[in-house]
Amino acid sequence: MTEPNMNYANLKDSYLFFGIAQKVKKYSEINPDKKILRLGIGDVSLPLCKSVISALTEGVSDQAEKSSFHGYMPECGAPFLRTTIAEFYRKRGVKVADDEVFISSGASDELGDILDLFDKDNSALVIEPAYPAYVDANVIAGRKIIHLASSLDNGFTPEPDEDKLADIIYICSPNNPTGAVFTKEKLKKWVDFANAHGSIILFDAAYEAFIEDDSVPHSIFEIDGAESCAIEVCSLSKTAGFTGTRLGYTVIPKALVRNGMSFNAMWIRNRTTKTNGVSYIIQKGGAAVFTEQGQKEIKENIAYYKENAKVLMRVLDECKIEYTGGKNAPYIWLKCPNNLGSWEFFDLLLDKIQVVGTPGEGFGSCGEGYFRFSTFGSREDTLHAAERLKDLFGNL
Ligand code: MLT
Repeated sequence: MTEPNMNYANLKDSYLFFGIAQKVKKYSEINPDKKILRLGIGDVSLPLCKSVISALTEGVSDQAEKSSFHGYMPECGAPFLRTTIAEFYRKRGVKVADDEVFISSGASDELGDILDLFDKDNSALVIEPAYPAYVDANVIAGRKIIHLASSLDNGFTPEPDEDKLADIIYICSPNNPTGAVFTKEKLKKWVDFANAHGSIILFDAAYEAFIEDDSVPHSIFEIDGAESCAIEVCSLSKTAGFTGTRLGYTVIPKALVRNGMSFNAMWIRNRTTKTNGVSYIIQKGGAAVFTEQGQKEIKENIAYYKENAKVLMRVLDECKIEYTGGKNAPYIWLKCPNNLGSWEFFDLLLDKIQVVGTPGEGFGSCGEGYFRFSTFGSREDTLHAAERLKDLFGNL
């Protein structure tokens, strides 16, 4: 008999965002007249910017002509896009070679796939609260997971702990869900720790475009020594509204070597075996994000989401609710009022004011008592949600 991967039996019943979507669907079927305001999953609400749309349209036209038609794309990414992204790093003063950049179909896909590079007996350290896919992908692979809880006391950016050694270390900055950012000094501690123990950091930079503070690093490769201990995974989903279009990139330095094996070379071997590349049209659209005009346009969209953040933060300030995030990140992470549990607060918001957020406990047990709002909704929904929240907080 075929043996299924029994690790699936060790997963929670449903993936966090899927479970929430089911709950909300059920609620709206029972209450069809209620307008639900969705500040839950971090899915963008603004359309792709004009430069991207023109490039995508050109890409479609290219595919209509024999002379410009593209078949299979290079497995590791179109050279034009790899060079564009490497140059984007270099302009920021980070040394990245064109062939250290790999094009992917998005950060969440890549964060799962990249685990192919690691032995199944490697352990994984997850700083919690954390994006739940880090844990789930490693549960599926049967890896030992070491949980490192963070808290308000350390600003949700803990330092390495010699008692919590692991082979793979996840760091997400700006952080999902807390919105906290790791300073250069803190990241340096993690880089030194990883190099000292031979660990590899999987750095999730999906929210780097939201950083406002000049001193906060956008890339782990701004830190000396990171090239020998880190892989960076990034995405255009939040930066440029590609959640439904799918495009990301990963940087694997050639200096990242363990046991004589180059992770860059292994990823080339993996990609050439497992993919036929990301669609030409999408890569063409993605390249437009890095043009001067594209950068201007995506920044306008990011500014819109940041204004949403301000709307929500204003209400939280007025109601004296403690929170982090909202400034360098598109998430606001708040303490549930009246010591409510995070799922209790979720039910209360859905039931009383039809506002959907994400319960902190879904990001790990230390997220209990916290709640996350996404600022990616429409302005209209965000304003309405803010009004409803203000009324609710006033009556608690
Ligand atoms: C989130 O809400 O945490 C993210 O949108 C999920 C994702 O990026 O897959």
